[in-house]
Amino acid sequence: MTMTVTPSATPVLRDARVPADGMYEGRRTLNRLPEGTRERPYELFDIAPQGRLIGAEISGVDLSRPLTPELREELNRALLEWKVLFFRGQGITSQQQRDFAANWGELETNPLLARGSSAEVVRFEKGGSGAPTFENVWHTDVTFRERPALGAVLQLHEVPPVGGDTMWADMAAAYDNLPDSVKARIDDATAVHDFIPGFVRFYGPERLIPMQEEFPPVEHPVVRTHPETGRRMLFVNTSFTTHIVGMDRDESDRLLSFLVRQAHVPEYQVRFRWQAGDIAFWDNRATQHYAVDDYAPHRRVAERVAIAGDRPF
Ligand SMILES: [Fe+2]
Repeated sequence: MTMTVTPSATPVLRDARVPADGMYEGRRTLNRLPEGTRERPYELFDIAPQGRLIGAEISGVDLSRPLTPELREELNRALLEWKVLFFRGQGITSQQQRDFAANWGELETNPLLARGSSAEVVRFEKGGSGAPTFENVWHTDVTFRERPALGAVLQLHEVPPVGGDTMWADMAAAYDNLPDSVKARIDDATAVHDFIPGFVRFYGPERLIPMQEEFPPVEHPVVRTHPETGRRMLFVNTSFTTHIVGMDRDESDRLLSFLVRQAHVPEYQVRFRWQAGDIAFWDNRATQHYAVDDYAPHRRVAERVAIAGDRPF
């Protein structure tokens, strides 16, 4: 007996899949301001947004001069509303950079990084001092501290002819767009942060072991609340977050690798092309950043001053 195969009258879509990575395409919620906050103009400087969500260039402010309380207040509002501020062509001294940063609080010292003219100045000199200078991984600075930095002020002194950009990502937007099922799993979770994974690429055990006592592993909420805006923000990163408390290693690895990849979403990012003398001032509580490493063999020299922060909650 023979069977005849009759061709299907209706075309059928071929079964073709790509591996699920938990990311998705489609419209994302892009709220720059906390809910209920109305847009207000700035009175004391001009501002040029560099993107929809994050990053704005400020002009008409001279950072070599002391800030009036009104200017400090308005710059702080801009920092909260734009998360990273850019000031072109400032070319200020290390002392002026420290004085500017000190308007936001006590300055931080970092025994793991090369210092500039004083203990509060970190110097990133590619190909120079032999200190770690790679920051081409998405991270928030010093989350291995009990009180990670509030923010940082970075000035570029030498800029390669092309490349050496820095990128920032908005972690409030990253949180807003998580699926509800993921939010439910992490809303009350805490994670362990440790300086070792961030620095083991640069230093041997002889350098790291003596620091272990000063920097024991710390726990922070996976979702922190911004102390000034009240926004909820995703607060885990590739450099320092080792695991989520109370989960077995596989489950924690899977969830963390999904969470840290949220910083990779272009809608949450801004990318800054530097010139010598430019300054970036970012809210380290609300962002992650990534220093693009694409300019070898050229030099890139930067100095950073960080402001001590409070305990995440
Ligand atoms: Fe950094």
